[in-house]
Amino acid sequence: MNKTRAVYPGSFDPITNGHIDIIKRAGFLFGNLTVAVIDNPSKKCYFSKKERMFMIRKSIGEAGIKGVTVDSFRGLLVDYLRKTGQNIVIRGLRAVSDFDYEFQMALMNRKLYGKIETVFLMTDAKFAYLSSSLVREVARLGGDVRCLVPKVVAKKIKKLK
Ligand code: PNS
Repeated sequence: MNKTRAVYPGSFDPITNGHIDIIKRAGFLFGNLTVAVIDNPSKKCYFSKKERMFMIRKSIGEAGIKGVTVDSFRGLLVDYLRKTGQNIVIRGLRAVSDFDYEFQMALMNRKLYGKIETVFLMTDAKFAYLSSSLVREVARLGGDVRCLVPKVVAKKIKKLK
């Protein structure tokens, strides 16, 4: 079995079906995948770190995905990678509009830590429009997000104000 380790970092505020799609795809390529939730005070998130990690764990379970660890990190991603002895970063791409930011981030990370390889995985076309911020907005305005996010998220997000 392929035991290569990889890290899928992000805000996951909250996790969506698009993230789940990327986790599944990464799981096919890397036998040892960690979903790493950012916990930087400067990065304002709607859900707490604890809530985001809980929703990821529960969603992964609901989707029947095995062999994925959920962790969190503070500070620079490269420091987390160094500390955990890893060098492969997974990022999902939805559309060309994601590319500029992702390209910058990948090159900056490589500048900070030369061993890093960022692997971009294309999301399924049906999730190309999906983002955590849009999901929060739709939920806040009373829209139905059940087809956009895992069950646990749909339940929790109902209470959004
Ligand atoms: O889901 P997001 O918000 O697009 O994820 C962005 C994330 C968390 C991967 C990125 O902001 C990050 O790695 N932050 C940690 C701080 C850091 O290392 N910054 C330099 C990256 S160029």
